[in-house]
Amino acid sequence: MLKKTKIVKKESIAENLAEAGEIIRRGGLVVFPTETVYGLGANALDERAVKSVFEAKGRPQDNPLIVHIAEYSQLEALVADVPEKAKEAIEMFWPGPLTLLFNRSPLVPLTTTGGLETVAIRMPDNQVALDLIKESGRPIAAPSANISGKPSPTNAEHVILDLFGKVDMIIDGGDTEFGMESTVLDLTGKVPTILRPGSVTKEQLALIFDDVEYDPALQDASSTPRSPGQKYKHYSPEAEVKVFVGDDESVYLKMLQEEARYISRGCNVCVLTVTENVDKFVSKNVLDLGSRDSLEDVAKNLFEALRKCDNLKADIIIAQGFEDKGIGKAIMNRLGKAAGGNVEHL
Ligand code: TXA
Ligand code: MG
Repeated sequence: MLKKTKIVKKESIAENLAEAGEIIRRGGLVVFPTETVYGLGANALDERAVKSVFEAKGRPQDNPLIVHIAEYSQLEALVADVPEKAKEAIEMFWPGPLTLLFNRSPLVPLTTTGGLETVAIRMPDNQVALDLIKESGRPIAAPSANISGKPSPTNAEHVILDLFGKVDMIIDGGDTEFGMESTVLDLTGKVPTILRPGSVTKEQLALIFDDVEYDPALQDASSTPRSPGQKYKHYSPEAEVKVFVGDDESVYLKMLQEEARYISRGCNVCVLTVTENVDKFVSKNVLDLGSRDSLEDVAKNLFEALRKCDNLKADIIIAQGFEDKGIGKAIMNRLGKAAGGNVEHL
């Protein structure tokens, strides 16, 4: 059934917050900005509302949602316990793009956790998100506000394309700050484990934890990822995607070669590359991901660039890859999924 979607522009957010909170309380859906990407929000404790989130996105039922809170005091009711390690991480990174796993309290429906006994929680660092959570008086379950499988939305236009008519309200807070989702960290086991690389890097986490590991499934496709979302094809534009990683010169030469090969076949080619190389390609669709010296910019621009390739009706996307460290790890995780694993190391 089609819903009537109210779009709230930046300048009128304040006067619409009460209505947004009311929508959440009565089991409706509100899309809101966070510092990472836009979230598709519902009352995390209302099973029916949470079910409608899965429906609106076309999301598999076993892929759990992140619960967003605005105050530390909201945490206690949602979790069985708060381990010491989690307290340190919260102190350092909340509000911010770090999602932590806890053993869930019975208050959190299994629909929200995709049937798991753990619940993922974060406190976003975005005033509109925090105000909405407070106004609603509820913890808000929110996956990224895209149709399942598509790149996450970093502005309201992306959201409108994917979800207009499927949600009650879309709050337009402009471009998101990070453009890359939160890091999902599991502190319920012995060793802190990153289940999804994101805006908080392993290097930053190592400032407070002696040993931090990546879930082995992030490298090895044959083991089962502990973050269910990691097993699905994701971030996928319509076109085929090829990613090339290695030293600058080899990557650039290989990309040029590939570009020429596809153009000669009559394909509509999109090139995703760094600012330094934009002028070196010949096809008309060369998209600038940002400077190779500022991977934060690349992280911020990536999803928008993948969506642009769809608008340009690309047949093939030839993309520059990056070193697997710092925020580069999250960028490569998303690019690798967009490419369905089609990543060549030179
Ligand atoms: O930055 C973000 O995290 C954004 C904004 C809106 O907060 N949200 C987001 O949600 O990216 P979503 O649903 O697109 O991704 C959540 C990820 C999925 O990979 C999911 O499998 C994982 O977190 N996750 C959630 N709960 C989990 C749990 N209990 N155990 C393991 N993984 C979990
Ligand atoms: Mg998502």
